[in-house]
Amino acid sequence: MKKLWGGRFTKTAAQWVDDFGASIHFDQQLVEEDIEGSIAHVTMLGECGILPKEDVETIKKGLTKLLEKAKNGELSFSVAYEDIHLNIEKMLIDEIGPVGGKLHTGRSRNDQVATDMHLYLRKRVMEIIELIRQLQRVLVEKAEQHIETLIPGYTHLQRAQPISFAHHLMAYVWMFERDRERFTESLKRINKSPLGAGALAGTTFPIDRHLTAKLLSFDSIYENSLDAVSDRDFIIEFLSHSSMLMMHLSRFCEELILWSSEEFKFIEIDDTFATGSSIMPQKKNPDMAELIRGKTGRVYGHLIALLTVMKGLPLAYNKDMQEDKEGMFDTVQTVIGSLKIFAGMIETMTVRVDVMEKATKQDFSNATELADYLAKKGVPFREAHEIVGKLVLTCLERGIFLMDLPLDVYRQASPLFEEDIYEALDPHNAVNRRTSAGGTGFTEVKKAIEKVKQMLEA
Ligand code: ARG
Repeated sequence: MKKLWGGRFTKTAAQWVDDFGASIHFDQQLVEEDIEGSIAHVTMLGECGILPKEDVETIKKGLTKLLEKAKNGELSFSVAYEDIHLNIEKMLIDEIGPVGGKLHTGRSRNDQVATDMHLYLRKRVMEIIELIRQLQRVLVEKAEQHIETLIPGYTHLQRAQPISFAHHLMAYVWMFERDRERFTESLKRINKSPLGAGALAGTTFPIDRHLTAKLLSFDSIYENSLDAVSDRDFIIEFLSHSSMLMMHLSRFCEELILWSSEEFKFIEIDDTFATGSSIMPQKKNPDMAELIRGKTGRVYGHLIALLTVMKGLPLAYNKDMQEDKEGMFDTVQTVIGSLKIFAGMIETMTVRVDVMEKATKQDFSNATELADYLAKKGVPFREAHEIVGKLVLTCLERGIFLMDLPLDVYRQASPLFEEDIYEALDPHNAVNRRTSAGGTGFTEVKKAIEKVKQMLEA
């Protein structure tokens, strides 16, 4: 098959060689962006007097028709034309005749593909930002229902201090807030036009790069033509922000998996987000949470892969860069899927308030309360720590908790202990008293929820 670039060739490559070089089986995902970019380019060629108006109109009509077909899934692509750009150009020529060959005036596939990627990512990143916001809303709503629900707080996965369940949920809301911020901030680099950089050096045609940028709603243009065609930072950044987001989702999934186990029983994942076992009739598995945790690995992989692809490349375009696409497409799909599934899982899960609260009463996570109690009465904290540590030991020997220890034992340990220690030991009070900024005290948690709700409106 004759190539669109075949002029200087006397021999053709074997089919299997062409197959290896082709990207059409994955870059066809860029079809709409590719045609939109071409419409802007040819419009500009007309405005700048580079192509006659009639030609521009014919080309635009042809492209518009192809765009419609693309949206209806009516285009069929061919490996013979290597990639999305040449496939569309070939289809255009088939559609409107040789005048279609004028579309590529003053342009190269190098600035074309970069433009497509910018357009593609802009749309998907905006979708991801919105999905993060929706997930935050779901979490804040859950948090509002559980401000006074207690759950053990952990460090080293050992019971540490009781906290408000809402506070725990809100910790993730803030992580997702940073994710949303990062993606939003990255838009200013994604939303830059490489179009008009040509193959690498610009062009001799009197093009107007600002016009194509405007037509495609880019905020600005790349200042340097070499940089414009060889920059893939914006994709690496996207993969990096996606990795961070997936890491947050994955940590949360890990907690859902733990919490839904027989050992914790803090939550129950809804039947609609769980699966059974083919052999064990009693099983209900948190597959969706496990999968999100698992899929985090492939997103990290895509990040490392592209960093590695880019690390040794001389300027400007190199074919290696065709490898930027599959990881990006897969990441977009993985992140969007994970965000949707995760929000659904949180929305529908059952929170076992009774089990969580019971857990906060059957441990020593109120020991810090006693140490603080003594410290507030003037005992140096380090000494208070020691005294309470001994009391914990006494309890362990007797198989009881601090709440069950009689007052006279406390008073032998320190005469500063009074009847009101039992109030201090109550986990509900322990949580409520942590009113330092950003702490788990109920008033602080309420404040945080209000603040976030306002941020999510904005
Ligand atoms: N399919 C190519 C890619 O994705 C398009 C750019 C090709 N440019 C070139 N000079 N071969 O990178």
